Amino acid sequence: LDVDTLKNQNDPIGVDKQTLLDRVSGERIKDRIERIAEHTATPGEGCSRFTYSEEDRCVRDMILDWFDTLGLQVNVDAVGNIRARLVGKNPDLAPVVTGSHIDTVPHGGKFDGVTGVVSAIEAVTCIVDSGFRPERSIEIIVFAEEEGSNFGMTTAGSKTLVGTFSEQDLHHLKNEDGVSMFEMAERFGLHPEHCEQDRIRPGDVDAMIELHVEQSIVLDREGPSIGIVQAIAGGKFYRVHFIGEANHAGATPMDMRKDAMVAAANAIARFHELVMEKKLKDTVGTVGQIHCEPNGSNVIAERVTFTLDIRDVVQEGIDRITDDLEAMFNEVAETFNVTCEIEPVGTSKPVRLSERIIGVIEHAAQSAGLDYRLMNSGAVHDAAEMTPVTDVGMIFVPSIDGKSHKPDEHTHISDIQLGCKLLLSALLDLTAR
Ligand code: GLV
Ligand code: MN
Ligand code: MN
Repeated sequence: LDVDTLKNQNDPIGVDKQTLLDRVSGERIKDRIERIAEHTATPGEGCSRFTYSEEDRCVRDMILDWFDTLGLQVNVDAVGNIRARLVGKNPDLAPVVTGSHIDTVPHGGKFDGVTGVVSAIEAVTCIVDSGFRPERSIEIIVFAEEEGSNFGMTTAGSKTLVGTFSEQDLHHLKNEDGVSMFEMAERFGLHPEHCEQDRIRPGDVDAMIELHVEQSIVLDREGPSIGIVQAIAGGKFYRVHFIGEANHAGATPMDMRKDAMVAAANAIARFHELVMEKKLKDTVGTVGQIHCEPNGSNVIAERVTFTLDIRDVVQEGIDRITDDLEAMFNEVAETFNVTCEIEPVGTSKPVRLSERIIGVIEHAAQSAGLDYRLMNSGAVHDAAEMTPVTDVGMIFVPSIDGKSHKPDEHTHISDIQLGCKLLLSALLDLTAR
């Protein structure tokens, strides 16, 4: 490919851009997605690949090999975010970032996160294979611990990368066994104590685009195959503990019990009613995880802990629910003669993405004759965490039947290929000067 042809056209990188976009290979995308999916702790029952696990290690090693083949400059940061740079012609210019995550929820799918990582690798592969060098560097980031599967808090890797999480936060964030993110990162061979120096600061990165599967049903049901994201939902996340008293299930009279299970069941039902009653258009509330102690069929539950996940693209929608939680759960606790503790696990703010990057992606879509829809994201993404330090955009491709966070999550490779072409096109525009 002739670099000068690329440079001297009206379009910032020229007509031969199409030649470059034509290199995007569905075969290669499919192969990489499948190879990553092989590494799961639950074979035959979806992808379970938690950050800092053996499966995570295997996929990282494979991806590091791919980066090596592409000749990228690689750096793995304090908590395991992998940063791989295709150095541009002008290395002094701030790079454009693209990427996503490789960790999954328990029994998740092949596409959540991996689609964005593989598309980023595919886009850079096409550039490298063509011999073309953009002015600006392109950096692929494979984010660590996006799903919150270890610690109950989403996007801990990107939060640390941009300084939203400090070293102290890494000590406080603990898994179910009480092991902190700091300690798990250390055991994995990382240096979490370097998190401050490894931070991305405002100005370090010129722009970021994440490609992701939609995880909802809009694109699949109503089309088209491309979504351009305007806002990403924020949320508040809690663990709620109801504490009663264990006792004999057969011998304890019904009116002399402190039954944490009945209280929790009522609280969960009331929570659902509260969300239904107070919700704005996009508000959602979920109890997805529950633990009972001592968890015996003939023992009254002493302690029941469940999670709350409350989200909206506007803060008011979240606050309308959280404002009433404490009073409501305390009322339930009183009714059932137990106590209640609400433990905040974390928050993320709803964010609006950058008009500049949305414009670049829209322009790239229009010039390629691609139909697209402007939309919001109900799921959390690393892209949202990057907004304090750079201009961020996101591209969505359809999730078949809107299924996600489950083994039968699926996206057509042809749609990923299309999304990847759009990603590459936008990256070329953003890195042309
Ligand atoms: C991550 O996928 C989330 O939205 O919870
Ligand atoms: Mn994801
Ligand atoms: Mn996810």
